[in-house]
Amino acid sequence: MNMIKAVSIYKQFNQLEVLKGISLAVDKGEVIAIIGPSGSGKSTFLRCLNRLETIDRGTIEIEGDVLATDHGEGKVNYAAETEVRKICRRMGMVFQQFNLFPHLTVLENLIEAPITVKGMRQEAIVPKAEDLLRKVGLAEKRDVYPSRLSGGQKQRVAIARALAMNPDIMLFDEPTSALDPELTGEVLKTMRQLAEEHMTMIVVTHEMAFAREVANRVIFMDNGEIVEEGLPATIFGSPSQPRTKAFLNKVL
Ligand SMILES: Nc1ncnc2c1ncn2[C@@H]1O[C@H](COP(=O)(O)OP(=O)(O)OP(=O)(O)O)[C@@H](O)[C@H]1O
Ligand SMILES: [Mg+2]
Repeated sequence: MNMIKAVSIYKQFNQLEVLKGISLAVDKGEVIAIIGPSGSGKSTFLRCLNRLETIDRGTIEIEGDVLATDHGEGKVNYAAETEVRKICRRMGMVFQQFNLFPHLTVLENLIEAPITVKGMRQEAIVPKAEDLLRKVGLAEKRDVYPSRLSGGQKQRVAIARALAMNPDIMLFDEPTSALDPELTGEVLKTMRQLAEEHMTMIVVTHEMAFAREVANRVIFMDNGEIVEEGLPATIFGSPSQPRTKAFLNKVL
């Protein structure tokens, strides 16, 4: 069973076709890096996986459960709303812009969803949240408000917050691109650590060194399609498609 199975995903915004038949299967413990030019549909694809966007055609299964399917016929049916929420809860998402709650302390940011969404008890989630803060190196920031944190610290809190929901899969959408270069490293380190613990991850990133080093598989997207995918050494070392070559020549 795949952790994520997306088959022939199509999505358009008004007249603009943004995803043109994307298929991707992700196994447990895999780290997938998605690279590609701006506007190629990377964020939209991630957002479709956890139903922040709805798809027009295709099938999405998460850990064997059908989130949405068109039965190969063109009209998409989503699972019932409670089922959709249950399925999407298995995926934690980290955005470029952190999205922390400004009026909550760091600890409160971590425990809010486990308490309100999962009905966890304070006594159960607080020690877990403290463990997670230790893990991302921010134990001492437990009681401060996000406005007092650096961008890198905010992003590590956002990662810890996603992990507090105990997800099976983590989706990252350019988690370091809002950060100053000197703060990027600490966030990548946290992500590398998660990968080493065999978290299943999809990471949309501009950090080519990170993709090369940490990903098991690199997907190159352009213009709503997967142009090429393969081992990092292959994609970065000897890409077969001209579009991949042209992109890498620009960014490397
Ligand atoms: N909600 C929306 N409504 C209309 N158009 C949208 C919407 N979201 C994305 N788009 C368009 O879809 C296309 C793909 O956008 P997307 O954000 O998925 O690209 P991306 O590969 O993540 O780019 P970037 O590297 O700049 O983040 C773009 O042309 C974008 O303008
Ligand atoms: Mg994007």
